[in-house]
Amino acid sequence: MMITRRAFSGLVATAALGAASPAIGTARSRTPFPKGFQWGVATSGHQTEGDNTASDIWWMEHAEPTLFAEPSGSATASFDLWPADLDLVKSLGFNTYRFSLEWARIEPEEGLFSQGMIAHYRRIIEGCHTRGLAPVVTFNHFSCPRWFAALGGWTNPAAPDLFARYCERATQDLGAGISHAVTLNEPNLPTILSWIGLPPALYEGHAAMLKAAGAALGSHNFSGGFMLSRDEHLPMIPIMGAAHRKAREAIKNLRPDLPVGLSLAVSDDQATGVTTIRDRKRAEAYEPWFAFAADDDFIGVQNYDRTRFDAKGALPPPAGAVLNQMGAEVHAPSLGGAVRYVHRASGKPVLVTEHGVGIADDAVRVPFILDALESLRVAMADGAEVLGYIHWSLFDNFEWYSGYTPRFGLVEVDRQTFKRTPKPSAFALGAIARNNGH
Ligand code: BGC
Repeated sequence: MMITRRAFSGLVATAALGAASPAIGTARSRTPFPKGFQWGVATSGHQTEGDNTASDIWWMEHAEPTLFAEPSGSATASFDLWPADLDLVKSLGFNTYRFSLEWARIEPEEGLFSQGMIAHYRRIIEGCHTRGLAPVVTFNHFSCPRWFAALGGWTNPAAPDLFARYCERATQDLGAGISHAVTLNEPNLPTILSWIGLPPALYEGHAAMLKAAGAALGSHNFSGGFMLSRDEHLPMIPIMGAAHRKAREAIKNLRPDLPVGLSLAVSDDQATGVTTIRDRKRAEAYEPWFAFAADDDFIGVQNYDRTRFDAKGALPPPAGAVLNQMGAEVHAPSLGGAVRYVHRASGKPVLVTEHGVGIADDAVRVPFILDALESLRVAMADGAEVLGYIHWSLFDNFEWYSGYTPRFGLVEVDRQTFKRTPKPSAFALGAIARNNGH
């Protein structure tokens, strides 16, 4: 849901905060989470490492025209600063760190694998272990190599083999240290966006950007990013599904005991009466992925909001709701609803691989997290199997089309010096992680 607003905010740069909602800051229980529960923070390569110059997104950021509000540049400079970042994650109290490998760094040209970059990621994985952090590793977090996009990206029937070859190569050297492997990040996001109904001008702008990015590479079918119309995205679904399955097979061949899954964008879709439209959305946006994930070990749930449906369609946020920087409702219990649904519908254990709020005022974040965790605990008490909770994000970072305006971080990053300053929410969630409960 928020992506819509995210797209808008990149273009019209609005930030709206409403009055405090009674849903935030309600009474909460103190029952601990199960022993071994994973408490983490998440980042992704393109959003934090910086200078990801061989990637499709970098190419799109610099195309003319571009839909990106600003380029990623050096992001949070984590390509160099990762040891200090891991120290911070550990010192705050977490036991898990989710990050992504950048395919564009590992395979900057088709079939050419960089030993240096693989060694870089091996050092990060080892750095996690040295500090007692479980590395949850995403193999593809939206950004792909530029050459892959120039071949048609996820529209290319050869994409599953290309992706599986990279996953196999990465697993050979890195697999031994990974705690959980996430193949694809939110491959269902364009479907979610199509349910929100982005203005046609945005899709047109995106298509023009892809065309310009491709022209510079001599490609007529350059494809990347996630603001894709229904027509553009529908043919990709079976290709991405096959890519996930082949990648899982490649990973499992090398490390059969490594838990593998994919992560999905999941709104807490609530029917306020007739369920027909809500259920149609679920059938389109999630159910095909539950089928692709049928042999997986877990499903990564990434929740940021709820969507309420009546018999006619999606409803606007209720009057007086707190709004995030994308203009969507901040509704903490959406986490429990999303997890409950995914576990029931898929039968799989859930790892919350992302959950958070894009908001400038960190004072909203702390009660938001507490209430969301309470909803998670209640869903677990009702039978949802949940392996852990990973917050998005460690840092205020590069929020894709919207640039650096939205603030999802527990930690602020100075855009000039890259100095990290933990916000009160970082200490609050870190203390919960340390105590295994709130
Ligand atoms: C993505 C992240 C993004 C976050 C907040 C998720 O869709 O996986 O990359 O930053 O939402 O918008």
